[in-house]
Amino acid sequence: MAYDKSDHIQLHELRFRPYLETTEIQERVTQLGQELRQRLYGKKPTYLVMLKGAFMFAADLMRATRLHGEVCFVRTSSYEGTESGGTVRMHLAPEPDLVKDRDVVLIEDIVDSGLTMQAFLPELEKLGPSSVTLVTLLHKPEAQQVPVKIDLVGFTIPPKFVVGYGLDYDGLGRQLPAIYQLDEAY
Ligand code: IMP
Repeated sequence: MAYDKSDHIQLHELRFRPYLETTEIQERVTQLGQELRQRLYGKKPTYLVMLKGAFMFAADLMRATRLHGEVCFVRTSSYEGTESGGTVRMHLAPEPDLVKDRDVVLIEDIVDSGLTMQAFLPELEKLGPSSVTLVTLLHKPEAQQVPVKIDLVGFTIPPKFVVGYGLDYDGLGRQLPAIYQLDEAY
């Protein structure tokens, strides 16, 4: 990864411009955590984290809720490069005991086409949760191809590819504390 004078970054062959600053993200994640705390006060939710993209958001969000709960990881994939591939594959399934009769907080990095959630939510329902609260840090409504019931959204963004704060481009960029948007001028 290379940084240049104008704060743009380069990942593989693509250049990205700063889009959401670290402080902006942290303020919004704190608000989301407070909202979840109000909704689930007195409960011990299962935080179900969609790998790999949501790991950083989930770590901050869970701390912001200040609610006790267990953690469970799920891994699906659909993306190739900067385009959604269409077919959703499950690489790591949720632990059934952590979902059955639990209040699940499903934590996503981004809802783009909506295909991942369309494929995953029915699988989750089959495991018998008491409730499911879907929280996504980012939502691209203009890119959405199928309806998805999202409970909490951090930021609504245009249909442009973004990286950072857990999100990657072809494996790179996840460690960035801020979010960058693809710069098509290059
Ligand atoms: P969807 O199935 O198209 O809604 O996308 C789901 C997954 O694709 C997300 O959980 C991300 O991992 C990945 N994704 C979608 N948009 C972006 C993006 O702009 N940057 C990085 N990853 C993305």
